[in-house]
Amino acid sequence: MNFEIEPLGLAAIASEKCDVLVLLVPQDFKPAKDTLSQLVAPALKAGDLETKPGKLLSLYRPAQIQATRVLLVGAGDGSARQVRTALGTALAAAKSPALKKLVVGFAMPAQEQAVRAAVMAIADASYVFTTTKSKAEGRTLNKVLIAASNASELQQTFERSVATVSGVELAKEWANRPANHATPTLLGQAAQALAKLPKISCEVLGPKEVAKLGMGSFMAVAQGSDQPLRFIVLRYDGAAKSKAPVVLVGKGITFDSGGISIKPAPDMDEMKFDMSGAASVLGVFRTLGQLKPAINVVGLIPACENLLSGRSVKPGDVVTSMSGQTIEILNTDAEGRLVLCDALTYAERFKPVAVVDIATLTGACVVALGGVRSGLFASNDALGDALAAAGDSALDLCWRMPLDDDYAEGLKTNFADVANVAGRAGGAITAAKFLQRFTEKFAWAHLDIAGTAWKSGAAKGATGRPVGLLVEYLLAQAGSK
Ligand code: BES
Ligand code: MN
Ligand code: ZN
Repeated sequence: MNFEIEPLGLAAIASEKCDVLVLLVPQDFKPAKDTLSQLVAPALKAGDLETKPGKLLSLYRPAQIQATRVLLVGAGDGSARQVRTALGTALAAAKSPALKKLVVGFAMPAQEQAVRAAVMAIADASYVFTTTKSKAEGRTLNKVLIAASNASELQQTFERSVATVSGVELAKEWANRPANHATPTLLGQAAQALAKLPKISCEVLGPKEVAKLGMGSFMAVAQGSDQPLRFIVLRYDGAAKSKAPVVLVGKGITFDSGGISIKPAPDMDEMKFDMSGAASVLGVFRTLGQLKPAINVVGLIPACENLLSGRSVKPGDVVTSMSGQTIEILNTDAEGRLVLCDALTYAERFKPVAVVDIATLTGACVVALGGVRSGLFASNDALGDALAAAGDSALDLCWRMPLDDDYAEGLKTNFADVANVAGRAGGAITAAKFLQRFTEKFAWAHLDIAGTAWKSGAAKGATGRPVGLLVEYLLAQAGSK
């Protein structure tokens, strides 16, 4: 899909040829003498159009307007949030195989964050997953023109937004793929393909190398599956070598059956999404390769399946992690933390300024925060604040959760240094406390995206979150030296 932005006022917008014109009408709309204003003003006066976000009035081939269909849509206060709501509704109404070219006009000077929200909302609403359909009826929309009188001030935001969309869509693609189309090996190849982009390099380790590193915890999860594990190391080198990198660690469980502690059958298919953290890391790298910011980033992905077989790890087994700490695996379904802990230890070698892991880690986080905000845990307040602020600004929200040491009590065991589960209570936090044991050497944060990485039900599919949050955070780091 091709996005453009142009400095067009309402009169010029009316003469843009397109299939659908969506005109965002804010609450403080001031009509002028142009055709569109003359359509909007009486409709507002009569109450047939309201400026509450998402209120719609639809027209077909109106006179003196080049668009086939025109959707006048309330945009409230013109904020990012309200523009997103407005475009969500408008694009649902605009959906048709005939929609190839879309113009989104701002009937007001556009705010930077509103432009980003617009680009993201259009991409989100028009996304179609086709990889496993026999007749690929993909996205018909191929041209989007954002028209705003103040477009010249919006160029940088616009470019960042378009690049973020391409990262989000790569994350969606890999997260949406069923597990037989997204094996650890295929994930490794996807990462390697990113190394074609500027400043990106990639190394993929297999079982032998991982054994040599002593990643006994990661290997224990992988051992029940016939698919060989992969440990993916991506690098984006946009700054001097001397600049310490941010390390992103993405949970890459390509299918989580629970292992011997098997999950119930209903909705188990959704555990193909258990590599959404890994997918978000791939997505971030695609965006970095496009924007080329002055920053160094390392991406680590421990990728494997969590399955049952005669070789599977069993409840009660004790394994030795790369850090040397022994772990009693009381529940084989708490596998995410077992693959992440070894990746976190591996992260030490990069002497990072910060390490952020991204994981569909706990059902408890879904219970706590639902699908609106990701869980944010941080051992370092500056890092926690920066991630929370990035989430707010990118409309990819998260919420800080506690890390009091008292939450780690339940991880004590008589048989190893630590157990991989505590009781049911505070499950998202006890999981984070487990991870924290492997992060003493750097500033660390953990994003539990179990509730936000995908949607269930009729709209089942990956969201591409938290690529927006992570890109925003990294670009802010590139700016502050
Ligand atoms: N991948 C799951 C977490 C998950 C569950 C994400 C449901 C999204 C929806 C994770 O590996 C897991 O199974 N966690 C267990 C931990 C428990 C055994 C302590 C859970 O949340 O039930
Ligand atoms: Mn699990
Ligand atoms: Zn899992």
